[in-house]
Amino acid sequence: MACPKIFLYCLLVQLMFLFLVPEVAHGQGLKVGFYQKTCPNAEAIVKKVIGEVMSVAPGLSGPLLRMHFHDCFIRGCEGSILLNSPTHQAEKDAAPNQGLRGFQTIDRVKTALEKACPGIVSCADILAIVARDVVVATGGLSYNVETGRRDGNISRSSEALNNLIPPTANITTLKTGFARRGLNVKDLVVLSGGHTIGFSRCSAFSNRLYNFTGKGDPDPKLDSTYAARLKFQCKPNDVTTHVEMDPGSARTFDVKYFELIPKRRGLFTSDVALLDDSQTKAYIDLQIKTGGSTFFKDFGVSMVKMGQVGVLTGAAGEVRKVCSKVN
Ligand code: HEM
Ligand SMILES: *[C@@H]1O[C@H](CO)[C@@H](O)[C@H](O)[C@H]1NC(C)=O
Ligand SMILES: *[C@@H]1O[C@H](CO)[C@@H](O)[C@H](O)[C@H]1NC(C)=O
Ligand SMILES: *[C@@H]1O[C@H](CO)[C@@H](O)[C@H](O)[C@H]1NC(C)=O
Repeated sequence: MACPKIFLYCLLVQLMFLFLVPEVAHGQGLKVGFYQKTCPNAEAIVKKVIGEVMSVAPGLSGPLLRMHFHDCFIRGCEGSILLNSPTHQAEKDAAPNQGLRGFQTIDRVKTALEKACPGIVSCADILAIVARDVVVATGGLSYNVETGRRDGNISRSSEALNNLIPPTANITTLKTGFARRGLNVKDLVVLSGGHTIGFSRCSAFSNRLYNFTGKGDPDPKLDSTYAARLKFQCKPNDVTTHVEMDPGSARTFDVKYFELIPKRRGLFTSDVALLDDSQTKAYIDLQIKTGGSTFFKDFGVSMVKMGQVGVLTGAAGEVRKVCSKVN
C-alpha cells in the first residue's frame, strides 16, 4: 500500500511543479555575487553607467524600475521585455508596455559589460541590478541583488497584453495576480510602493476622470481637487502627456505614495484598491504613522523575491550578447 501512495504523492508533486515552476518565485541557482569570479566589477560597472544616466536623465528612474517588474511578470525575469520583433509582436510592443523607456540605457550598460567580460552577464540580471541602482539613486535603501539569471528567447506581445495586471484592477485581481507569481499580499502593497517614483501617461487613468459611472462624472473615489487638476493636465483622449504619479516627489523614493492613498489621491484604481484589504490597509497606515519605518527595507526584500520569479538558471537559456536579440 505504501508504494502506490508514495507514487501518487510523487506524481502530485511532479504535477504541481509542472504547473507552478515557470511562474512562481523560487530562485534556485541565484545568489548574491554570482559574478564575483567571472566578472568581479559587474555591479560596479552597472552602477557607474546608471550614475551617468541619472545625472542627465533622472526621469528614466521610473521606467527602469518598472522594466524589471514587467520583465518578471511575463515569463519570469529572463529578459524577454528587451527583445525586439521585426513584426512588432514582442512584449515591448504590447499596449501596456508602450510607456516603457530606457532600453538604450540597458544597451549602454550591456556594452560596458561586454567590454569588460564578454558573454558573462545576462540581460535579465542587468535589469535586476539596474532596478536596485535606480532605487538607490532616487533615495531608497540599497539591498543585495541576487544574480545568476539567464536570458530567454521568447517574447510575445499577446502574453504581455493578457497577463500584465491593468491599472483598473481591483484588490482581488491584484492579489491573485501576485499570488500566481509566488508573491504574497505584503509583497503586493510593498511593491506597489514603487509608484513613489515615476510618471504615468494620461491614458492609464483617464477612465477615472471622464464619465466614470456613465453620468459624465469622475470616479467618486477620487478627491475632487485632485480630479480637477488631473482633468486640467489630461484632456480627453490625450496620448502624449505624462503626469507625476506621486505629485511633488516623483523623483524621490519616499513614503508619499502611501500618504496619498487614504487622501483619495491614489492615481490608479489599483492604488486605491489597497485600502480594500485589511492587511494592505494596515501596512499603509503603519508606514504613514511611522514615516516609512519598514517600507524602505521591505522594498528590497520584496524586490529580491520578485527577482526570483520564473528565472532561468544553470544551463537553461543563454547569456545574450545583445539584449534586444537572441544570440
Ligand atoms: C500592482 C500592480 C501594478 C499596476 C496595476 C501598475 C500599473 C502601472 C501603470 C498603469 C503605470 C503607468 C504606465 C504608463 O504610463 O504607461 C505604472 C507606472 C509605474 N509603475 Fe506600476 N503598476 C503596478 C505595480 C508596480 C510594481 C510592482 C512596480 C515596481 C516595483 C511598479 C513600478 C512602476 C513605476 C516606477 C512606474 C513609473 C514609470 C515611468 O516613470 O515611466 N509598478 N504602473
Ligand atoms: C474584480 O475584478 C474582476 C475582473 O475584472 C471581476 O471579475 C471581479 O468580479 C471583481 N471583484 C470584485 C469584488 O469587484
Ligand atoms: C457617458 O457614458 C454613457 C454610458 O456609457 C453614455 O451614454 C454617454 O454618452 C457618455 N457621455 C459622454 C459625455 O461621453
Ligand atoms: C530557445 O530556448 C529553448 C530552451 O532554452 C531552446 O530549446 C531552443 O532551442 C531555443 N530556440 C532558439 C531559436 O534559440
